[in-house]
Amino acid sequence: MRIYAHRGASKQAPENSLKAFKLAFEQAADGIEFDVYQHDSGIIVFHDRTLMRRANVKGYLLETPFSELSTLDIGEGERIPTLIDTLNTVPPTKWCNIEIKHLVDVKRWVEDVKKAVNASNVNVSNLLVSSFNHHWLKAIKALWPEVKVGALSASYELDCTASARALNAYSVNIALDAVDKSFVETVLNAGFNVYVYTVDEPKDMLMLAKWGVTGIFTNVPDIARQILKANSENRESNEE
Ligand code: G3P
Ligand code: MG
Repeated sequence: MRIYAHRGASKQAPENSLKAFKLAFEQAADGIEFDVYQHDSGIIVFHDRTLMRRANVKGYLLETPFSELSTLDIGEGERIPTLIDTLNTVPPTKWCNIEIKHLVDVKRWVEDVKKAVNASNVNVSNLLVSSFNHHWLKAIKALWPEVKVGALSASYELDCTASARALNAYSVNIALDAVDKSFVETVLNAGFNVYVYTVDEPKDMLMLAKWGVTGIFTNVPDIARQILKANSENRESNEE
């Protein structure tokens, strides 16, 4: 089961900061998940529409010029990263999940992401693009067929692979509160991968590993790595 650091190693470092992404890889995460907005200045990494929770100032992210955004302290002196800065923290062979929070111009978005990927060590086959807005994913996939997309959802739909089929998706990315064993079986049997967010408790990590999910998003990649390692060592010693 792959371990993705959710907004980086965000329990120990400011979420969606370069510090959190670097720490995630130091803690042996397989990948990072981060949130992006298409800003006038380009693609920037941030979770909220507004600045208060992370930077303690009033205002909307998209209404603030990058010259101002780049001076804000998002915790421990960290700055709001650009997509390129973020991809540059990813070692070769590691994974990335770009979760789109805001998009206006799909063509420009695809061009900008391709440019950033080419300037980094990220292999496009290790890149997953997800969003709760499946229309954006459809438009991206039409322009960039080789990119992997993840149909992100907070609910267990009656037809839980419908979006993944319509998008020719790589995965269904589902909320921990919505997922159960039958969901995982249905999605895996339909030929899609399953990723679950946000998984911080060891008991949940072990349950999802047993169900065979492809990956989890966690704020604590160090704990996830430790738990999965101990679990596989236990299994090996029981098999001897
Ligand atoms: O991509 C999974 C997860 O990050 C979606 O929710 O609000 O944490 O971005 P959120
Ligand atoms: Mg996210």
